[in-house]
Amino acid sequence: MKKLLVVLLILAVASMAFIGCQGRGNQNRDITVGFAQAKADESDWRMANTRSMLDAFNRAGWRLILADSNNDAAKQIADVQNFINMGVDYIVISAVNEAGWDTVLRNAQRANIPVILNDRTMQASEDLWLAWFGGSFRHEGDLAMDWIEKRFGANPVGLVHLQGQLGASAQVGRTEAVDAALARNSNWNLLARQTGDWGTDRARAVMTVWIQQHRNRINVVFAENDNMALGAIQALQEAGIRVGGANGVAIVTVDANRWSLQMTLEGLINYNVECNPLLGPGIFTIIDNHRKGIMPPKRSTVDALTFAYDSITQAVINARAY
Ligand code: AHR
Repeated sequence: MKKLLVVLLILAVASMAFIGCQGRGNQNRDITVGFAQAKADESDWRMANTRSMLDAFNRAGWRLILADSNNDAAKQIADVQNFINMGVDYIVISAVNEAGWDTVLRNAQRANIPVILNDRTMQASEDLWLAWFGGSFRHEGDLAMDWIEKRFGANPVGLVHLQGQLGASAQVGRTEAVDAALARNSNWNLLARQTGDWGTDRARAVMTVWIQQHRNRINVVFAENDNMALGAIQALQEAGIRVGGANGVAIVTVDANRWSLQMTLEGLINYNVECNPLLGPGIFTIIDNHRKGIMPPKRSTVDALTFAYDSITQAVINARAY
């Protein structure tokens, strides 16, 4: 009888422990998110984006596994397949290239792993990803082109165009905006266009060659991100060419990192279109809501502010979060 009581007691304690574990588990089950980043340190924008993601997920105590593809599209697809093989709960992708995703996304779907697109869009069937959160690249490009149109009116425009890494949706959208502006402005002349791969050194080298080829004909540089704008400015200054302000070569860029806004205030950059990299909290909310059964909107766009050299103030820059 005594033995039986002991066994019953053990069973009761064990079942209570089991129920306790189940309860805790249902609420706080360990969540693992695989984050396939394009290239974590590629530019100031991307570093801020990587930090924002890590902060948002760490704050909630979730595991975020970062895979850095070094802007290699094939490696990034392999990184995503690796996340699928590991059985992560969610996958977040900031796509190097907008093409080539169908097979691996289908594998994720078969494995029941929802995919969220961070910043970059993809050419893939919509049912293969849960939600996208980021900026509208075409709109950012349009805002940049609007400023050039207003500044130059009917005067001749000799434009050089530094593109992002070819095939990235950010490059595709911003370049579409340039092409549309060229088509509607017969006074614009595209002197040169080439990728600077989002980086300062590459852009500086490209710009140095363009200066040798076109020197006095260049009156506008459009760089598809801040880091490339910086490279172009360095090359122009090295060549003794005046940059920015009312009389120098006009510099127009996208991203609006704090240092580049400081250069805008100094008059070295004429116009800066914001592309907000602080997407971590929004991506976290999408996943958190989805876990609770709340379907996120398919697309959520972040607004783009603009900053011009003749109206920006130090107070505006100081209030910026990145
Ligand atoms: O996709 C956003 C773009 O990618 C940013 O403009 C650029 O700096 C980054 O690499």
